[in-house]
Amino acid sequence: LREEEIGRALLAWYDRQARVMPWRVGPEERRQGVRPDPYRVWLSEVMLQQTTVAAVRDYFRRFTLLWPTVADLAAAEDGRVMAEWAGLGYYARARNLLRCARTVAADHGGRFPSTAAELRALPGIGPYTAAAIAAIAHDEPATVVDGNVERVVARLFAVRTPLPAAKPRLTELAARLTPADRPGDHAQAMMDLGATICTPRKPACTLCPLAAACLARQSGLETALPAKAAK
Ligand code: ADE
Repeated sequence: LREEEIGRALLAWYDRQARVMPWRVGPEERRQGVRPDPYRVWLSEVMLQQTTVAAVRDYFRRFTLLWPTVADLAAAEDGRVMAEWAGLGYYARARNLLRCARTVAADHGGRFPSTAAELRALPGIGPYTAAAIAAIAHDEPATVVDGNVERVVARLFAVRTPLPAAKPRLTELAARLTPADRPGDHAQAMMDLGATICTPRKPACTLCPLAAACLARQSGLETALPAKAAK
């Protein structure tokens, strides 16, 4: 399978199997071209750094009920936001969250910029979060690479170089897979595939929409990859 065919197979799988999450739009809305709110994408991605989807759900619901827009969050008291963050850990994220919300409110009229480059200039937004917001909220063809995506790509292309040395190569391969059409759904499909099928220890290859293309599977290397450098 070539890159475009892999991309199509993955999106077809995502249309059937996408996990339901409070920051995503449903399949019917997606078909009608509804995009998720950049504020909600940003908030969810910041919460999901170092925290699981299951743990984030209720925090995300509570934050968006209390502060439905980035302007509402920007106007909140620091102590109130820190108290609502309690339990999520990594409190620097919450402080950066407020700094970023206030910058968007003060310098961008309360609207998140749409390109990954402009997003990266905001406090607390690194390459991962910038790419995620650009792709998911704005359908910019940015490539989102987290641990799940690295694993999927390392297996698909049987990259034997161990992590972390393999990162630049994996990023390049992930970028080649990113379609011009629906890059946000593609990014989330890669994450879902890594989280539910292409799992670290016991990948469910018989259920995988990309099994026919997977070079690791053809070589019996699916559980051996990605290799990790000895510590
Ligand atoms: N992990 C981080 N961001 C995610 C997203 N948008 N969907 C699924 N898992 C994620």
